[in-house]
Amino acid sequence: MKTIVTTSHKPSRQQVLRALKISKERRIRYVSRRHLILRKDEAVLIVETDRISALKNGQRFFFHPSLAVIRKSNIDSGQRDYLIESLDLDGDEEVLDCTLGLGSEAILIAHFLPQGEVVGIESSSLVKIIVENGMKHSENLYKWIREAVKRIKIFEDDYKEYVKKSERKFDCIYVDPMFEHPRYDSSAMNSMRPFADHSTISGDDIEALKKKAKKRVVVKARWNDSIFEKYDFDYIVGSEKSDVGYGVIDI
Ligand SMILES: C[S@@+](CC[C@H](N)C(=O)[O-])C[C@H]1O[C@@H](n2cnc3c(N)ncnc32)[C@H](O)[C@@H]1O
Repeated sequence: MKTIVTTSHKPSRQQVLRALKISKERRIRYVSRRHLILRKDEAVLIVETDRISALKNGQRFFFHPSLAVIRKSNIDSGQRDYLIESLDLDGDEEVLDCTLGLGSEAILIAHFLPQGEVVGIESSSLVKIIVENGMKHSENLYKWIREAVKRIKIFEDDYKEYVKKSERKFDCIYVDPMFEHPRYDSSAMNSMRPFADHSTISGDDIEALKKKAKKRVVVKARWNDSIFEKYDFDYIVGSEKSDVGYGVIDI
């Protein structure tokens, strides 16, 4: 994806330095905001005063853990959360979240791991930069989120490569690839879509993940995604209403 980096209008010196640093580290062109011309299919990373966002074809993406907030408040009011149920955590596990995305589920999982850790892998560099930066600047977020993000470590990689080269084993491994048949009712996910890696998961990928898991592997998909046909999970949990299932393999 062709990408450039800039700042918001009337940037501070800090913002310009930050944008230049990203440009150097990522080898992407820096363009001052005054000279920015938006081009079709070009992604623009924008260093703002208090966050980093990305813009492409009019779609804007920035970090906001709104989905984690809703899920946590549903759990607090006694509703079931099938991801948390399927992971069946004791609170001290090491969990590999292969597909970090917005980081909402990593935050939720980390909340239930007061003595544990989440390693989040993300292959899209724009998504990784934005979400990692958002988690680092969580001062204005709820205390439980500020605590949870301290237990999340993020790496930019393809999880299929990461598990091949890493020696590390994890208690639980979670994968949430982009859906084969997207749902357009989630505005948070819609805004990330142009910047995300849309690769699918195969049975061989799941077999590779099983070798790195000590307790279980959990894969999220829509009920009509082909992975639920192709792969024989031990069991699948989820609500018919939400149209999303979590396939579980116990090790
Ligand atoms: C559906 S989103 C995950 C949403 C996430 N569970 C959350 O709570 O926000 C899928 C994310 O995984 C990333 N992704 C897809 N394939 C990947 C791969 N092979 N390795 C690493 N990240 C991948 C996509 O770029 C996207 O950001």
